[in-house]
Amino acid sequence: MKYAFALSLVVRCWAYSISGCPELWYEYDGSCYNLSSETRSYWVARLICRAESGDLVIISGESENDFIKELFLIYHRNTGKNISAAFIGLDDIDEESVFVWVDGSPLAYRNWAAGGPDNYGDSDVCTMLGPNNAHFGMWDDISITRQRRFVCEFRMRTTKVGAATAVASIKPALYLESRVIEVIYARSIVECLQGCIQRRVCLSINFMPGDQSNAGVCRLMTATAGDYYAVRKTVDGWMYLELLN
Ligand SMILES: *[C@@H]1O[C@H](CO)[C@@H](O)[C@H](O)[C@H]1NC(C)=O
Ligand SMILES: *[C@@H]1O[C@H](CO)[C@@H](O)[C@H](O)[C@H]1NC(C)=O
Repeated sequence: MKYAFALSLVVRCWAYSISGCPELWYEYDGSCYNLSSETRSYWVARLICRAESGDLVIISGESENDFIKELFLIYHRNTGKNISAAFIGLDDIDEESVFVWVDGSPLAYRNWAAGGPDNYGDSDVCTMLGPNNAHFGMWDDISITRQRRFVCEFRMRTTKVGAATAVASIKPALYLESRVIEVIYARSIVECLQGCIQRRVCLSINFMPGDQSNAGVCRLMTATAGDYYAVRKTVDGWMYLELLN
């Protein structure tokens, strides 16, 4: 009975989130996106996004911009709240009036409200306007001293299911406490690893083998041991492996 239960859990979990984004994150063109529920300053917003191995969103074109508008509508449907604006990863902090994305790339696609940035204040950071604004989806520059909600983006890992994946073992066995996305049952470390490869946000695993009648326990994690933000714990008897690409 115990075994059948464990096995059905594995099947259900696998069917549930193959290659998807974590809960409350939304997938578009190989990235996962989230519109925050809290307001923060631009710098703190960036730190929070970077803790997810991403950054504030970089918008490359109209279809991506439309997708982000959708996040405001999803948020409105789920909470009844009309957000007035949210930070995107665009600022002119380094050089007044020269707007660059947080990865250093120059502005190509642009979607300014009212014709262009008005450069109010010395350093401006940019927001996308929300659904209760006549210019919903367009961008506005505001002073860096303001707090807003924000949109994070992180790229999914590109490893394909079935592709050869190099694995490194690190001792002592680590458990990255704050970065577990899912716990599944697996008959072997290979099965645990397969579970990780199938979820494109998984970067490492922590596995405790089972015995004749019980499957092992497999923690899927979104970070690796070198991740600055991960909370590392040593756990005896568990194996830790990370994907190298
Ligand atoms: C983004 O994630 C937070 C939790 O971290 C959640 O409260 C919020 O609803 C999510 N945003 C959307 C649009 O689902
Ligand atoms: C809030 O947003 C929804 C969806 O865009 C819109 O239909 C509604 O009129 C807005 N309500 C207010 C009070 O702005």
